Amino acid sequence: MCLITSNEDLINSLKKAKDNKMQTVGFVPTMGYLHDGHLSLIKKAKEENDIVVVSVFVNPTQFGPNEDFDRYPRDIERDYKIAKEAGADIVYNPEVEDIYPKGASTFAVVDGDITKKLCGASRPNHFKGVTTVVNILFNIVMPDRAYFGQKDAQQVIVIKKMVRDLHMKVDIVVCPIVREADGLAMSSRNVYLNQDERKQALVLNLALAEAQKKCKQGNTKVTDLKAFIKETIEAQPLAQIDYVEILDAQTLDEIKEIKKQALAAVAVKFGKTRLIDNVFIDS
Ligand code: PAF
Repeated sequence: MCLITSNEDLINSLKKAKDNKMQTVGFVPTMGYLHDGHLSLIKKAKEENDIVVVSVFVNPTQFGPNEDFDRYPRDIERDYKIAKEAGADIVYNPEVEDIYPKGASTFAVVDGDITKKLCGASRPNHFKGVTTVVNILFNIVMPDRAYFGQKDAQQVIVIKKMVRDLHMKVDIVVCPIVREADGLAMSSRNVYLNQDERKQALVLNLALAEAQKKCKQGNTKVTDLKAFIKETIEAQPLAQIDYVEILDAQTLDEIKEIKKQALAAVAVKFGKTRLIDNVFIDS
């Protein structure tokens, strides 16, 4: 297990591993401050590949001007230890200049509605930054498989589309959301929450799970279910809703009735902290 900061060292290590018959590379891209959600990705990658690379890079291009890039939690020593225990072989922790060479002006953009709705509506350049950095990281690491969490449901759909559209030779593996014992979806941003915000944030999972139940019981009307989720969340005084949506789970197209698998997704601010959560629902 090693911590690598330069692209050259990473490429040489991976070449050496391949020369030693380590055939498949599993890749877990992260922005660090690892939690159990990341661990589930690393463990899955370890099960399915000879060598596992975890990148820790807080990507500036996916943050808007008034977002939390500067205060995003960073602790590479902690991340290294956690990644090692979970079975990673390499932690790759590049500097901004390693990813974006001076004067870089090339981006990977998934055009169309799927990057403009949900998080794309309130974070206009977010997915341009995500797809660009994922593309660059794939070009450096050249993984056989890359692992992403279902918590970032829209990110997963956008990345899968990029991989499909650009004929990229990597399998995208999606792992389920990992939750705290009380149901809060794991996120590096949870550390920002004060006690009251943390308590009220539990409403996200509760509202989504209840909507899922209602749908199973026969209430398949999207307007009703969205209204229910909104009302439930708004009952918490610290919650400020960014969006509550129920869309087709594969395409993110609008739907009126739940006939096949749908994605119920929410983004809600508690204080300064914006949390997202989602659940698949069907009847
Ligand atoms: O999901 C994340 O942590 C980031 O969006 C990713 C995929 C590592 C790109 O910076």
